[in-house]
Amino acid sequence: MNPLVYAMDGFNPDNRALMTQETIFHNANGLIGIRSCFEEGYPEGMASIRGTYINGVYGISEMKQAEKLYGFAEEKETIVNVADVQSIEVWFGGERFTLFEGSVLNLSRVLDMEAGITARKAHWRSPEGKEVKVAVTRMASFERPEVFLLEYALEAVNFSGPIRIVSKHIGDVVNYSNPDDPRVASESVKHLSPGVPELLGGASYIKTLIPRSGISFCSGVKNVFSKPGDETIEVSGTSAVHTFSCELSEGETVVLRKYCVFTDDRRHEDIEKSAIAILSEAVDAGAEALLLEQRTYLDSFWDRSMLKIEGDDSLSSSICFNLYQLMASAGRDQISSIAAKGLSGEGYEGHYFWDAEMYIQPFFILTNPEIAKSLISYRYSCLGKARKNARIMGHKSGALYPWRTITGSECSGYYPSGSAQYHINGDIAYAVTSYYLATKDLETLANMGAEILYETARLWLDAGTWNGSRFELHDMTGPDEYTCIVNNNYYTNLAAKHNLLWAEKAHKILKEAGMGFAAEKIGLSDSEAQDFKTAGLAMYLPYDEKLGINPQDDSFLTKKVWDFEGTPKDHYPLLLHYHPLHLYRHQVSKQADTVLAHFIFQDAQSLDVIRRSFDYYEKITTHDSSLSSCIFSIVASTLGLRDKAFKYFGKSAYYDLFDTAGNTQDGIHTANMGGVYMAAVYGFAGFRLKEDGVHFAPYLPEGWTRYSFKIQHEGCRISVVVEKDASVFTALGKSKNIKVNGAEYALEAGKPVSIPNLSN
Ligand code: BGC
Repeated sequence: MNPLVYAMDGFNPDNRALMTQETIFHNANGLIGIRSCFEEGYPEGMASIRGTYINGVYGISEMKQAEKLYGFAEEKETIVNVADVQSIEVWFGGERFTLFEGSVLNLSRVLDMEAGITARKAHWRSPEGKEVKVAVTRMASFERPEVFLLEYALEAVNFSGPIRIVSKHIGDVVNYSNPDDPRVASESVKHLSPGVPELLGGASYIKTLIPRSGISFCSGVKNVFSKPGDETIEVSGTSAVHTFSCELSEGETVVLRKYCVFTDDRRHEDIEKSAIAILSEAVDAGAEALLLEQRTYLDSFWDRSMLKIEGDDSLSSSICFNLYQLMASAGRDQISSIAAKGLSGEGYEGHYFWDAEMYIQPFFILTNPEIAKSLISYRYSCLGKARKNARIMGHKSGALYPWRTITGSECSGYYPSGSAQYHINGDIAYAVTSYYLATKDLETLANMGAEILYETARLWLDAGTWNGSRFELHDMTGPDEYTCIVNNNYYTNLAAKHNLLWAEKAHKILKEAGMGFAAEKIGLSDSEAQDFKTAGLAMYLPYDEKLGINPQDDSFLTKKVWDFEGTPKDHYPLLLHYHPLHLYRHQVSKQADTVLAHFIFQDAQSLDVIRRSFDYYEKITTHDSSLSSCIFSIVASTLGLRDKAFKYFGKSAYYDLFDTAGNTQDGIHTANMGGVYMAAVYGFAGFRLKEDGVHFAPYLPEGWTRYSFKIQHEGCRISVVVEKDASVFTALGKSKNIKVNGAEYALEAGKPVSIPNLSN
């Protein structure tokens, strides 16, 4: 079985299942994302999220605050649903093609991750008995990120007669909303002001303004039909409608190719000119060439990024699915990052969170460092707004990154589990230092990373407080959103400590390299850098002597434990059934918090403490967030709890494919997808990136024959193949020293070295 082909057979008309498939089979390339809706539409009364998105293209809507206190966000950015280019109606004489009438004799949907396409193949019999085979292929091009290709092939199986294909380009579309779910927009806002379509050279172009954000984008569509016949193209309001009519003979196949383009004025000076140029180049190249380019791009991606499992086909395919989606979701320029739902839906309104830095960036750092660098450049471009945000929040110096955002402004409306999550500063700093450790890219550190490190460190100095000889952080929220505004959240304090110590370290490294311009630019003196270090070293890390664990924060262990036995199963996620304050007063964690700290900052504690902590927090964590199981899997691996590690891993790996949380219809869970990668590489293979190099401690999960992957460190690639008794490491290209199970090995370029695995 090819793990790079994910297929689903049969037609299930259930509305939620279909909306989930719109997400699973969406097409994205880091810039554009298009949900896989049925081109021909759905019957009246059926819901669908017919979404098309451009990374970083947003509208603004009012943030309604019931009581408007000082500094609360007044408006928020929302990714907008842009023009619909996927709609196609097909008529056979008087009958219209739809899977919801007549009989579906066969239906398959495929995501081919080697070819970078999705496909839908249907064999359908109309109510009058006409049999048709429909084959749809869709692709968001990685090589030409503005381009989307849709190929619609129709075969008349048992009849001859007229056919009419109506291909639409619809300018006026709206975003999805659901007033009952806090994880999507609660009300429908009109974001778009589309212009009248222009018809040029057989193509249609619609320029659309998003008045509140001032952003404009242009969508373009060119239809190319395989059979001569009658053809009309007309403008109807803010849509363009291209109709093809011809006679079809029995056994004949006709093909409509829809070449589509999206340009926006955050990236293009003249959106229409660019759209025309990019579209005509794509049409001239032709679909075959575009499909070939896609395959070549993906060959190189998989060569760098493949995580191959032998012995469990289904898991192997689901892992590829997760990795593919990460690549399809990641912004590649300084105005875009990776949204919580990637480009697959409108959940969390297209916002970027800490998910990108803490859960996803590790995958890119180790496999595609250029993308990791681009993610840093995005945060660097938001530094000015983070400084402003810090002032709004009362800080005299430094920068505070917003909890959720598109352009760097705070878009969180509920500050206890939003803006109060100051750990985001430490998370971004952590991503900067991890990228540096993996690449030793001094230039990026000097040009972007250092300023981020210094300004976030300044914020900690301003926000923290000295309690005798202890430096403490009060009134902040850690990763667990069921426990808010607390003192000394263990994770936050460790992230801040790391941030402070690294700010001082980076200052020294850059000064020695004669590259201290970031410090000069912002007036950072040696003595201020020394203050960072002093505070970092004095950072208070709560520890409970009695239980021998790190409490999540100062008050956590004094609270009542949540009544799990008395909580009905259908009351999860708790956030949809209990008042936040009620949750805050209990020991109940939505997601890994202290356990996350034990993974990220493992060296801060002994394994004995980590073991006791893991046992303790496991009992009170609901995993209501998708950011949780993967982390429990990693720490279980570290502790030798292999069955548990595997169980949590499976939960993460199938999260979207099994719609475990029941909301995949709103988009994929990108942080979890990055977590799946980490649970394998950091969990099963025990990988760690440290100042003294790369470490491994691999084992093979029960039931697998072998797994393999490659990582990149300081320009050298290392191939790792883990089998039951031993693992084989090969340095590709140049020699490399690595540490395995604590011992150092010198790998000679191209020479595999087999090292026994530790038994449990
Ligand atoms: C989690 C956050 C996460 C956000 C976006 C929330 O449910 O609690 O940690 O950043 O989802 O994925």
